[in-house]
Amino acid sequence: MAVVWNGLLVLGLVLGFCLVSSLGELELFAESPKGDGSLAFLVVGDWGRRGNYNQTEVAHQMGIIGEKLDIDFVVSTGDNFYEDGLTGVDDPAFQESFVNIYTHPGLQKQWYSVLGNHDYRGDVEAQLSPILRKMDSRWLCLRSFIVNAEIVELFFVDTTPFVDKYFTKPKGDVYDWSGVLPRKRYLSNLLRDVDLALRESRAKWKIVVGHHTIKSAGHHKNTDELGAQLLPIIQVLSTRFIKNI
Ligand SMILES: *[C@@H]1O[C@H](CO)[C@@H](O)[C@H](O)[C@H]1NC(C)=O
Repeated sequence: MAVVWNGLLVLGLVLGFCLVSSLGELELFAESPKGDGSLAFLVVGDWGRRGNYNQTEVAHQMGIIGEKLDIDFVVSTGDNFYEDGLTGVDDPAFQESFVNIYTHPGLQKQWYSVLGNHDYRGDVEAQLSPILRKMDSRWLCLRSFIVNAEIVELFFVDTTPFVDKYFTKPKGDVYDWSGVLPRKRYLSNLLRDVDLALRESRAKWKIVVGHHTIKSAGHHKNTDELGAQLLPIIQVLSTRFIKNI
């Protein structure tokens, strides 16, 4: 089931198998499938609008579906807070765009979030901070990490630092690259960790999550940097995966 609504993408997935998995270098979080081996989660991105742009309406529909599917968690693919991320851990946007919006009982689950390019225009460390997690225990945002839900393993990848134009043509936007520089080393470490984790994973389904599209027919088009650097890692894996069946 997929709903595209006014720029917000909500995607519901129900999966129904069971296999064991393992870990790599990235921080790992564990989720357990339901008793029948199935797992359900919603995916949403580009959302933090203080309820505007139909965010509240989409949140309500997500809640209905979340309840119906009895979701295990929510995946957020970044651009969590428009236009310029959070100004700090005390930015009211955290309440106004997240806490006070996703109030439906069907959405009271763990949220796993990555950063988008708009988040990088604010205080990145604020979004990653445990202080936000204390304010709302559903919140968890890290640059790159893994969620192992046995049947499926999700690899969250920080895609913004791959995109050249934010560095070469920032067009007046200021990006918070602390923790990313030197960029080359950051990207090569990240690619190495993702590659290793994907190779080690024994999960039946492996899903790579990131903010930027590798391929897209939309107006942002393909992200060539990801096509050149991340896609080959995923493709190697799918070859192995097919061979292993
Ligand atoms: C919200 O959705 C309605 C109905 O689809 C649309 O007419 C309206 O323009 C949207 N509002 C915003 C601010 O995008």
